[in-house]
Amino acid sequence: MKINYKSVINQAFHLIVRFLENADNEDAPVVNYKSPDNLRNILDLQISDEGIDYDKLFEHIDNYLKYSVNTRNKQFFNQLYSGTNIPGFLGEVFSAVSNTSMYTYEVAPAATLTEKELIGKMCGIAGFKNGSGIFVTGGSNANLLAMFSARNKFFPEGKINGMQNSPKFTAFVSDQAHYSFGTAANLLGIGAEALIKVKSDEYGKMMPEELEKEIFASEQRHEIPFFVAATAGTTLLGAFDSISDIDKIAKKHNCWMHLDGSFGGSIILSSKYKNLFKGIETVDSFTWNPHKLMNIPLITSVFLLNHKNVLKTNLTKLSTDYIFHENEAENCDLGEISIQCGRKADALKLWTSWKYYGDKGYEKRINNLFDTAEYFEQKVIENEQLELMSERQTLTVCFRYNPGNIENLNVLNAHIREELRKSGKSMVNYGYIGTDLTIRFVVANPEVQKSDIDIFFKNFFYTINEINID
Ligand SMILES: Cc1ncc(COP(=O)(O)O)c(C=O)c1O
Repeated sequence: MKINYKSVINQAFHLIVRFLENADNEDAPVVNYKSPDNLRNILDLQISDEGIDYDKLFEHIDNYLKYSVNTRNKQFFNQLYSGTNIPGFLGEVFSAVSNTSMYTYEVAPAATLTEKELIGKMCGIAGFKNGSGIFVTGGSNANLLAMFSARNKFFPEGKINGMQNSPKFTAFVSDQAHYSFGTAANLLGIGAEALIKVKSDEYGKMMPEELEKEIFASEQRHEIPFFVAATAGTTLLGAFDSISDIDKIAKKHNCWMHLDGSFGGSIILSSKYKNLFKGIETVDSFTWNPHKLMNIPLITSVFLLNHKNVLKTNLTKLSTDYIFHENEAENCDLGEISIQCGRKADALKLWTSWKYYGDKGYEKRINNLFDTAEYFEQKVIENEQLELMSERQTLTVCFRYNPGNIENLNVLNAHIREELRKSGKSMVNYGYIGTDLTIRFVVANPEVQKSDIDIFFKNFFYTINEINID
C-alpha cells in the first residue's frame, strides 16, 4: 500500500510541535509521574499479531510523550544535559531521514566529511596539532577507548594474545571520577581493582601530590602504572582537575594522560572560562560530549586523540573486504577507526547546531550557563534555611534544606526531592558528599532565565510546606 507521507508526517508534526511548545509553557509539568505498575497499564505496550494503523499508532506516541520527562522544560535540572536545541534536533531528524551508517564513505559521503570537519575543528580547539578522533556512543565509551589506546600502547601483545601474560597494570583517576573507568578496566582485562582512586580535595579536585604518591606506591609494588585520567567537570560537583599538574606527573611516570570532559568539555568554547583547560594541548586524549552542554540530542559524544593513527593501529585487522574497498576516498572510511561497525551519523546534529549558532553563539550560551549557576548559588547563600554544601566550581550547585532544628537532614532532603520530582513541578537530583546527602542543581540549558530559578525555589519551598516535616 502506498504511504501518504504528507498525512503521516503532518500528524507527527503536530505532536512534535505540541511537545516542544509544552517545554516553554510554565504551567506544563516536567513529568506526569506514574509508578512503573500504573504506567505499564496506561501505555499498553504489548505487541499484537495484527499490528495497528497510523491513527492508532499516533495515539500511542501521544501517550508515550505524555508520560515522558520533557527535558527541555526549564524546570529540568536533574541530569548534566537538558534543553535540546532546535537546530540540533533538526539534524537528528534529517540524519534519521537519510538513515545511513558511518562505516564507509560509499554509503555516507556527506556525513563522513561532516564528521571529519568537526573532528578537525574540535582537535583545533583542544590545541591538538596532530589530532584525530571519532564520534562514539557516549562519554563512557570514549573513556573506554582512551584506556584501550593506552593499554595497546604499553602492552601491544594484549591485542592478539590477551592479558593472561601481562604484568599488573594500574590506572589512576580521582575518587570523584566517573564510574565508566571501572567498567573500562574491567572490559580491557586490566581489572576494576587495578583502577586506583586518588584522593580529591574539598572542592572535588584530584590532589596531584596524592596522585604521585599512589603512582609511586604502585611502582614499589612492581606494578606498571600506565593510565591517568583527569576530569573536566566532575559528575557531582562540576570540579575541574588541574590538567597541567596532573599531566606533568603522568608524563614523568610514562603514563597515558586522558582528560574526561564528558560533562565540562564544552566549556572550552568560552574564552572567559577556557583557562579551566590550561594544559590540555599536551594530554594524549580527550572525551567531549556535545550532548551535554552544547544541547545536542543524545547521543553526541566525541573521542579526540592528540595522535594520528592510534585507533586504526589498535583495532583488530580482520578480513573485511566485503565492506572496505580500495577507492579514491582514502582515509574516508571511518569504520576503520571505530569499534562499531554500523554507526549513526551523529555529526550532522552537532554540525547543524554549531553552524546555526556559530562559535560566538556557543560562547554566549556557555557564559549564560555560568551566569545562571552563579545566580542560583547566590540565592542559596542568601537564604538562611538553605545550606551550600560545597563552593560552586562551574555549573553545579550542591545544597540542602537545613532549617537548623532537624536531626536527620539526609532523610528530610531525600524526601523533599522525591516529592518535588513526583509533583512534576521541578526535577533536581541528589548525591552524597561524604555521608551527607546533597541536592545537586545543574544548569545545562542556556535558555533558563533567572525567573526560572525563582520558580524553582518557589516550587522547592512549596513542596516543603506540603510535606509534614515531623
Ligand atoms: C564526568 C563524566 N564522565 C563520563 C560520563 C559518562 O558519559 P555518558 O553518559 O555519555 O556515557 C559522565 C556522565 O554524566 C560524566 O559526568
